Amino acid sequence: MDFATQREAMVALLRERQEVSEPVAAALRAVPRHLFLPGIDPGDAYRDEPIVTKRDEAGRPISSSSQPAIMATMLDQLGVAPGHRVLEIGAGTGYNAALLARLAGPDGLVVSVDIDDELVARAREHLAAAGESGAEVVCADGAQGYPARAPYDRLIATVGVWDLAPAWLAQLRPDGRLVVPLDLRGVQVSVAMERDGEHWASRSVAPCGFMRMRGPFAGPEVLMVLRRDPELMLALPAPRKLGDVAPALDAVPTEITTKVEEPAPGPVIGMGMSLWLALHEPRWCALSGQTAAGHSFTAGIVEGDSIAVLAAEDYLIARGHGADGARLAAELAGHVAAWDQAGRPEAGGLRVEAHHGPVDAEGIHIEKRHTTLVLAFR
Ligand SMILES: C[S@@+](CC[C@H](N)C(=O)[O-])C[C@H]1O[C@@H](n2cnc3c(N)ncnc32)[C@H](O)[C@@H]1O
Repeated sequence: MDFATQREAMVALLRERQEVSEPVAAALRAVPRHLFLPGIDPGDAYRDEPIVTKRDEAGRPISSSSQPAIMATMLDQLGVAPGHRVLEIGAGTGYNAALLARLAGPDGLVVSVDIDDELVARAREHLAAAGESGAEVVCADGAQGYPARAPYDRLIATVGVWDLAPAWLAQLRPDGRLVVPLDLRGVQVSVAMERDGEHWASRSVAPCGFMRMRGPFAGPEVLMVLRRDPELMLALPAPRKLGDVAPALDAVPTEITTKVEEPAPGPVIGMGMSLWLALHEPRWCALSGQTAAGHSFTAGIVEGDSIAVLAAEDYLIARGHGADGARLAAELAGHVAAWDQAGRPEAGGLRVEAHHGPVDAEGIHIEKRHTTLVLAFR
């Protein structure tokens, strides 16, 4: 199969699973992703998979080409029109910048910043190899936006952000929109936000999972590599004293099968349940890794050197590991029942507002450095 046919097949697959607008589909068909991933088998570039392109010394991923499905979702949330001025935070391989350049067209402008100069150099090479001259890549800390080219109609972060940087809001036009993977107590959602009077309000929310922003604007989230091969990582919303949970995970678990049916059994538990847990359980954690079945992701409760996590079989199952595993599994099963009773809310049903100063809006309040987020399920 030639590369154009492979791209067409990738777009067809995405469209079976989700809505993809015609302009975004056309951009995905036009931009040769394999040229942004040299050294990777070109066939792999047209799978709907994220591809890690750089890790830090602890083995944590620090750059990747994101999964095409979430890129398509975010591009549709962003709604770039021909002629728009667009700022991207997190250039990575440059692939998304090329898609943005297609959407903004010859009368638009795309600037993409990355904090890592090695990645910036590579992204420029990839764009040149793809013959794409409509995107400028700059080495800078994205927390400052990129004032030299402001104002922007659209701003997108393709890296997980903990708060809305004041510079982004200041550099957007009055009717501008931003789309960012925003941290909600350790769970990320891709939020499209616009001004609504004195505050910012979400227009759409979608589940997502991005590596976290580096530099002074980084949030307090923690990612621990529990095992390298096969990869197993534990994420916490903020630093917390824990024991050694890795040995507990190898022990036979105590299992509680909940009465909550799982419509999509598999190695990844639903984002709605993770979000519920993050918003209601301070000892929340996420566990992700690679298994024979591919990428796995689950959420649970961690305390000391014990941990309980969810498994998605025909029903949701709470599995407790370690000395206090049985108790944690019972508590986790309680959260599953509460989520079910609340009507199984999902990320898409969330409304997010970002306020500056005192807030009297009803909902779950999350205090950030520059904003107070107010969340409510619709
Ligand atoms: C998931 S990758 C972006 C993928 C990219 N959009 C693509 O199409 O390949 C996230 C990127 O954000 C960058 N990043 C992390 N912290 C940053 C910061 N403070 N400012 C700018 N870029 C940052 C990382 O170096 C990494 O390349």
